[in-house]
Amino acid sequence: MDSVSTAILLLLLALVCLFLTLSSRVKGQLPPGPRPLPLLGNLLQLHSQDMLTSLTKLSKEYGPVYTVHLGPRRVVVLSGYQAVKEALVDQGEEFSGRGDYPVFFNFTKGNGIAFSNGDRWKVLRRFSVQILRNFGMGKRSIEERILEEGNFLLAELRKTEGEPFDPTFVLSRSVSNIICSVLFGSRFDYNDERLLTIIRLINDNFQIMSSPWGEMYNLFPSLLGWIPGPHRRLFQNFGCMKDLIALIVRDHQASLDPTSPRDFIDCFLTKMAQEKQDPLSHFHMDTLLMTTHNLLFGGTETVGTTLRHAFLALMKYPKVQARVQDEIDHVVGRARLPALEDRAAMPYTDAVIHEVQRFADVIPMNLPHRVIRDTAFRGFLLPKGTDVITLLNTVHYDPSQFRKPQEFNPEHFLDASQSFKKSPAFMPFSAGRRLCLGESLARMELFLYLTAVLQSFSLQPLGAPEDIDLSPLSSGLGNLPRPFQLCLRAR
Ligand code: HEM
Repeated sequence: MDSVSTAILLLLLALVCLFLTLSSRVKGQLPPGPRPLPLLGNLLQLHSQDMLTSLTKLSKEYGPVYTVHLGPRRVVVLSGYQAVKEALVDQGEEFSGRGDYPVFFNFTKGNGIAFSNGDRWKVLRRFSVQILRNFGMGKRSIEERILEEGNFLLAELRKTEGEPFDPTFVLSRSVSNIICSVLFGSRFDYNDERLLTIIRLINDNFQIMSSPWGEMYNLFPSLLGWIPGPHRRLFQNFGCMKDLIALIVRDHQASLDPTSPRDFIDCFLTKMAQEKQDPLSHFHMDTLLMTTHNLLFGGTETVGTTLRHAFLALMKYPKVQARVQDEIDHVVGRARLPALEDRAAMPYTDAVIHEVQRFADVIPMNLPHRVIRDTAFRGFLLPKGTDVITLLNTVHYDPSQFRKPQEFNPEHFLDASQSFKKSPAFMPFSAGRRLCLGESLARMELFLYLTAVLQSFSLQPLGAPEDIDLSPLSSGLGNLPRPFQLCLRAR
């Protein structure tokens, strides 16, 4: 070996040593976890068909704060109420970044609210909250829209005439129409091709993201990009959705009157025009399309899925269903639809809805977070940019917070005098700076829809109630209920 080759070899050796020293120093400040393999990470300890169980199992071994390698990505996992609350609530600012989530990120490219970071996220979130509020979110005017839509839903349900049916589609159409009316200015007719397409695309993507394919894509996005499978449909569906929203935006542009905005899109277009000269503005076509997509996606599938879980639980526990109906009859009667102001007088119904959300645990692993600066946490130092998974499932099933977490039991949200009792570990909408932006709308929809349905109908399973399986069909982004049919008996 000549002297030049020796020098290169020595230099390479020195660089490798330096890299190992630096990386072990960084690792030394991170929580412990299973030893990763190069490139594969902790693939051997993780099962993409049940990532939640794998991560929960590791927390039993390594504690409530540990490090895991999802493929080549290093992530810190938090489990149990205490650790998740300390991060999202007590150190909310530090943990407010959005972590990598390839199934979404490869479509949104960091535009929109849900998958952006830094100034862009702050500006778009503040703007969207303000506009949604102006259009009535959390106020009486949105209640009126929900009640109107509830009436359309009841009319559809009456058409089933006691025959068995799958409620997925009819619920999604109705729920989606509420957010559509805020975004696009008016509700769609239930047979409108655009509404049917929106629901089909969102439903399909939520299913793929909640399947092993979705989880696998999140682990190895570049590799999976080359492999055929249903995950490829994700991006076709996203593309179709984007085209559909772009078409609606174009219609709005043609008839825009900035002095009298009709909906969210008009407000966004007006803001775009105001900031046209600002090269740093966050208001442009891509952020408009992605923000609208985030609201549509967030506002459709989560509420529809929760309602399906609720139907299943109410059929499995007919006594719970009957007690909710008694409360409705007692507080509201049959002459008018239930309204939000009835909720305070309906502690049992409120407790049942909370218990459905806790037990169903619709987004079990939350969306990934990221620390926005070097962050001291429980004796460790998480370097800026570290992705963090907060297992909401382990909060909702934390035995230190709920007496019998594995049981569906509305008593979890009732005190000794049967008044409604809040729980700090109720986090289906997450907590802290990234708290779900649609929480107040979703809570209104769940209460008004469920009480309207139970006021008019009893839900009846096709088989024996005790045979109903409440465990999710698959779990990934979402906990999907098993498919089912039911019959409605008019009361
Ligand atoms: C039962 C219904 C719902 C559930 C369980 C739910 C759950 C969640 C969760 C767990 C997150 C992630 C929070 C985090 O990163 O810490 C989230 C974020 C979000 N949700 Fe919801 N959601 C629901 C309904 C809605 C509705 C109706 C809308 C639309 C109006 C919506 C829009 C959003 C948006 C835009 C974000 C991103 C917030 C951000 O990154 O700043 N969600 N939701």
